[in-house]
Amino acid sequence: MNETLLMLPGPTTVHPRVLAAMSRAVVNHRGAKYGEILSETNKLMADVFQTSNDAYLLTGSGTAAMEAGISNTVASGEKMLNIVGGKFGERFMKIAQTHGIDAQELAVEWGTAVTPEAIKEALDADEDIKAVSVIHNETSTGVAAPIEEIGKVMKNYDALYIVDTVSSLGGDYVDVDKFGIDVCVTGSQKCIAAPPGMAAITLSDDAWAAADKIDSPTFYLDMKAARKSGNKVPPQTPYTPAVSLTYAMNEALNMVMEEGLEARVARHHKAAEASVAAVKALGLELFADEAVSSATVTAVKMPEGISDDQFRGTTRDKYGVELAGGQDHLKGNIFRIGHMGNISYKELTQAFAAIGMTLKGLGVIEDAGAGVASIAESYL
Ligand SMILES: Cc1ncc(COP(=O)(O)O)c(C=O)c1O
Repeated sequence: MNETLLMLPGPTTVHPRVLAAMSRAVVNHRGAKYGEILSETNKLMADVFQTSNDAYLLTGSGTAAMEAGISNTVASGEKMLNIVGGKFGERFMKIAQTHGIDAQELAVEWGTAVTPEAIKEALDADEDIKAVSVIHNETSTGVAAPIEEIGKVMKNYDALYIVDTVSSLGGDYVDVDKFGIDVCVTGSQKCIAAPPGMAAITLSDDAWAAADKIDSPTFYLDMKAARKSGNKVPPQTPYTPAVSLTYAMNEALNMVMEEGLEARVARHHKAAEASVAAVKALGLELFADEAVSSATVTAVKMPEGISDDQFRGTTRDKYGVELAGGQDHLKGNIFRIGHMGNISYKELTQAFAAIGMTLKGLGVIEDAGAGVASIAESYL
């Protein structure tokens, strides 16, 4: 058993119920038993996406769903606008370029969120834009984009609205149908708290209409093949799925629904607020603009004079708490506290105890317990 507490923006700690579900016998993936669990899990997935459209589990990580989302609905040569304010916005750009799509970038300063007005302006300026991609929760910077407000803008344009909810679905408020999202993608290992290795996608009627016009440039991620296999009796996937991970997703999604989406989102928001307060209580500075800071991950500036290795190495090796570092140019400049999945005051108390003790040990702060005290106050 891994005794290290994962305070990462994925993978997150997997509940014993989910681990136990994975130990069930592997069945024939073309048989009735698997068909039943697959359709039940896809239905649960659609419920969590809050859509009346079908949802599809994909064997692969979140990036597979990102690639499936773009490559099936935007044709090579078509213009697509990507909002880029971090690593995952960049990924949509790269995937689009890989598929020969005319990928345009709307750059946003890392640590801030795009505004609906900026997207409106871009769409007004270029009527050839066929799709817009937005990262709901930019995990690399700890910023949440206003996807509901952006959805209101998108409703006035024909362009498809593609949203990555890999690190927000099941932790922050996502209502695919209400927000008018055409393509929504997510992953297993973050707020849903299943192990890594599965992803999911849902497409609106408009997205399917676009897909039906395109000769899919991807074989493994061809959504028309997924739809065809899904409609078989019993329901199937085109190729062998990760059967044991399907069990895990089923159990994890059941746990999401047992808690209730609203309660779960509220729990994540509470953890985010408590984390922000504790960061401040320790005298540290947030990286992201607080007005748009994420419900599932808090990015913090690394205190002057200490290295990432010293800081995160100590929280991990001495105190058993695994935090995430910065990516690309933020490497060494920030650290990130993931508070997604099965997180409450217990985990936050342990995490902030480790952060406080490490910083005191490194001579950065005087009061090692200020973060823990703040967490306690937040949850009283
Ligand atoms: C917002 C976001 N999108 C996409 C991904 C990619 O997911 P994966 O690493 O599962 O491929 C991640 C992973 O951290 C993410 O945070």
